[in-house]
Amino acid sequence: MDQDTADKLIAEAVQARENAYAPYSKFKVGAAVVTGKGKLYSGCNIENASYSLCTCAERTAIVKAVSSGEKNLRWMAVVADTAQPVAPCGACRQLMAEFGIEKIVMASTAGQRKIVSVTELLPYSFNPSMLLGEELHSE
Ligand code: THU
Repeated sequence: MDQDTADKLIAEAVQARENAYAPYSKFKVGAAVVTGKGKLYSGCNIENASYSLCTCAERTAIVKAVSSGEKNLRWMAVVADTAQPVAPCGACRQLMAEFGIEKIVMASTAGQRKIVSVTELLPYSFNPSMLLGEELHSE
């Protein structure tokens, strides 16, 4: 991930974080994703009084991109007010793997950042090819 894109993604994520709806945890998260064509989508976490319905910021951004017709996603940023760059949850890592996100810049609002690959975050991921048998491939 180049520096310019990382800066832009973090700026978008910081802005999206302003819209976080986190009255229960008070933990605001922002995320942004860039597609293979260079289009950006951002998102925030959205909580619910029925706690299990809380949506992560990364998931919001990815769902916005995919529902806009973008299935080829490339890089992502996530930001929160944490002592270390914030790490995405396990479920969001699986979602990143599904849509081909290669790298993620994890960041804190204080300006720390760390770039990691989704393969590092989720080695041996369950992926779409596992659902398809050899017969299906040859059809
Ligand atoms: N959260 C995210 O938005 N992304 C993550 O990767 C981790 C957790 C949100 C969910 C919930 O609203 C709050 O942070 C506390 O878990």
